[in-house]
Amino acid sequence: MSIPIYTYDAIVVGAGLAGCAAARELQNAGKKVAVITKLHPLRSHSGAAQGGINAAFSDEDSVELHEFDTVKGSDYLADQDAVEFMCQKAPETIRWAERMGAAFSRTPDGKIAQRPFGGQSSPRACYAKDRTGLTLLQTVYEQADRAGVKFWDEWYAADIIYKDGKVSGVVAFNIRDMQMAIFNAKSVMFATGGYARAYKINSNAHANTGDGLSIVARHGLPLEDMEFVQFHPSGLSGNGVLISEAARGEGGRLFNSKGERFMEKYAPNALELASRDVVARAILNEIREGRGVGPRKDAVFLDVTHLGKDLIMERLPELRELAITFLGLDMIKEPILISATAHYSMGGIPVDIDGHARLNNEEFIEGFYAAGECSCVSVHGANRLGANSVLEAILFGRFVGKTMVTDIDNIELRPANEKDAQRALDEVAFLLDNNGDEKVPTLREELQQCMTTNAGAFRTQETLQIAVDKVKELRERFKNIRIQDKSTVFNTELQEAIEFGHMLDYSLFIVESGIARKESRGAHYREDYQTRDDENFLKHTMAYMDENGNIKLDYMDVILGKHKLQERNY
Ligand code: FUM
Repeated sequence: MSIPIYTYDAIVVGAGLAGCAAARELQNAGKKVAVITKLHPLRSHSGAAQGGINAAFSDEDSVELHEFDTVKGSDYLADQDAVEFMCQKAPETIRWAERMGAAFSRTPDGKIAQRPFGGQSSPRACYAKDRTGLTLLQTVYEQADRAGVKFWDEWYAADIIYKDGKVSGVVAFNIRDMQMAIFNAKSVMFATGGYARAYKINSNAHANTGDGLSIVARHGLPLEDMEFVQFHPSGLSGNGVLISEAARGEGGRLFNSKGERFMEKYAPNALELASRDVVARAILNEIREGRGVGPRKDAVFLDVTHLGKDLIMERLPELRELAITFLGLDMIKEPILISATAHYSMGGIPVDIDGHARLNNEEFIEGFYAAGECSCVSVHGANRLGANSVLEAILFGRFVGKTMVTDIDNIELRPANEKDAQRALDEVAFLLDNNGDEKVPTLREELQQCMTTNAGAFRTQETLQIAVDKVKELRERFKNIRIQDKSTVFNTELQEAIEFGHMLDYSLFIVESGIARKESRGAHYREDYQTRDDENFLKHTMAYMDENGNIKLDYMDVILGKHKLQERNY
């Protein structure tokens, strides 16, 4: 069977905020660009972002405060040049989105409304009720489509074409009929989302499987700071579905089984609006110490009843619906049950401010870029502040698109050929033909459970080692996989097997990077090393996978700046 080869100036993989924003820039600059997306763009995970997007607008706020809060929130691991760039460009980014049609909620005097979020000195999160991500995604997708971007919906990106420090395309298959195709291009951008689905309880969309990271890593290319996984304080009890920080931003309070507003103990000043790592650990600690609530005693109460029906219906309608649908609890009348949920990946494909992906600490890969959650720029360091991710995605997506426009004319197209698809073809053939006795759902359940128990919000050398051993065992067992569906029509079982192979690989990066970081910083909390150790660990982890699947670690300097290291209290 011959494999079609399509040629473009640029290929963007992923159609969330970062991907759509970049593609629109490229198209409007007259470049031939295509977006490959395994979903319809409006189902991308950016649409699940609820509470807001940060920008220092108000008289009480400033870009400098936004920078300071972000750097402090990151536990000083963020690169300050990137933080400065993001915070400075944030107000302009909101105006840009608004001009394109994004309808933000307003104050009575017509200004863009802003709500408090965790770890922030001032109410800074601009919002559209509790549907901010969806509002922005609809706007940016619509404008990309209007500009004429070609979207390859329901195509699965299986590999990059990489050789000698240069990327020259993507290998993808049509989910409808498994037809493989080569997308040959001068430049490729990944906007493929994060890796929190490695955990059993998570807030991520089913399709947000983090494949982009392993695709890159399998070529021996680095992943940065993979040990930093954010646990959002408020996921619905039992399933982890996100209940936005907006609920606490609007005044929601947390209570344990004794009726104590327990955040007074953990963060006496910021209370429920401390940074996410602090609030998530406080919740889990209350549960561990026997003060949990609900039928399994594995939750705490989030109470917004005092805010009143009108405010809840005006600003938090979606959250109310979610709690009614999944828990049968109406937050207008009663507290709801929440606990921490794996939510966001601070680590990812290392890039500079312009989105160029790194080959190593000193060099960059020609023609390869990343933006959004799959990338590590690093504006979030060890812990991201709420409402900075939507900002990062849309802002860096747009600016990386501009970088690609400038770079493209200096990049020569390296022609692709059918052999470039061999690796992806072999992977599919193995999964379809192998007749072992292991099943993906069983292996995935074991992996996610193990990651939650041993590499979650609390970790030790011992638990991380258990996780390393388990991932390696599951990798061996994966060689003995069998999928029942041998067809080539919407073969979701095959796709899930490919995705699970990626999950195994990036999980090993999380735990190997975590075991080597013998300190506590942001979301990486080691019970056996409970303090931050700037002397030995004020550095980014750069992890590489060798041809035998083993992880090798290196480190890269953090870019410091005007915000000096301090103890971090809320
Ligand atoms: O809580 C939230 O609305 C999530 C926002 C974010 O992750 O930035």
